[in-house]
Amino acid sequence: MSLRPCLPPRLSLVCSFCLFGLAACAEDEEPETFDPDAVIAEAVDYEANYVRLDLDGVPTAHDSGGMVVARMWANEAGAEVFRTLDPDDPTQMVEMPRGAVFVKENYDLDGNPLDFMQVLAKFEDGYYPDGNDWFSALIQRDGTPLQGRIGKGPEITFCVDCHSSMGKNTDFIIGLPADQLAP
Ligand code: HEC
Repeated sequence: MSLRPCLPPRLSLVCSFCLFGLAACAEDEEPETFDPDAVIAEAVDYEANYVRLDLDGVPTAHDSGGMVVARMWANEAGAEVFRTLDPDDPTQMVEMPRGAVFVKENYDLDGNPLDFMQVLAKFEDGYYPDGNDWFSALIQRDGTPLQGRIGKGPEITFCVDCHSSMGKNTDFIIGLPADQLAP
């Protein structure tokens, strides 16, 4: 499914020739702006929309609220680059494509799903220059934001602070060792 609206002015000419509707012509173009609501709506249905990144659960550094193990998902754009990350290579420099979306869902010690997930989505140039244009969210599994932790404001600065220090050269995304990657 594409999140992309057919908005850029330079597309309007193309669209007027496009008989199959806006979605078809927006496919290859970057949108002017990304829509947080659309990202969240897609993210909550991660199993249908995204691919799994981890092989069998990751012991998580997100250690509040009883989180012990995480599963990680991404859309194709994000997953393709994620699989090239090498956590053992401090010299690796990577930029994620705009439109990449990552979702982390969490489990407790006994493997029960917890009702919160983290989302990172790489938005348009200029969305949040201090945060590499990442949209961040802490949500329940139905998409309800928790503690106002959504968007690019002060409530999500702690996400960005940790991700920017741990994923400094990889556009704030923290990779997995090859033996923990889903095939
Ligand atoms: C203490 C540091 C820290 C904080 C704070 C933090 N993260 Fe993470 N995050 C990590 C680490 C480390 C990983 C790699 C997997 C793991 O350990 O869970 C990760 C993984 C993720 C992933 C999967 C993609 C990736 O980079 O591997 C998403 C999405 C994510 N975090 C979102 C968030 C959001 C949204 C917040 C704030 C609500 C947040 N994180 C806060 C350290 C942090």
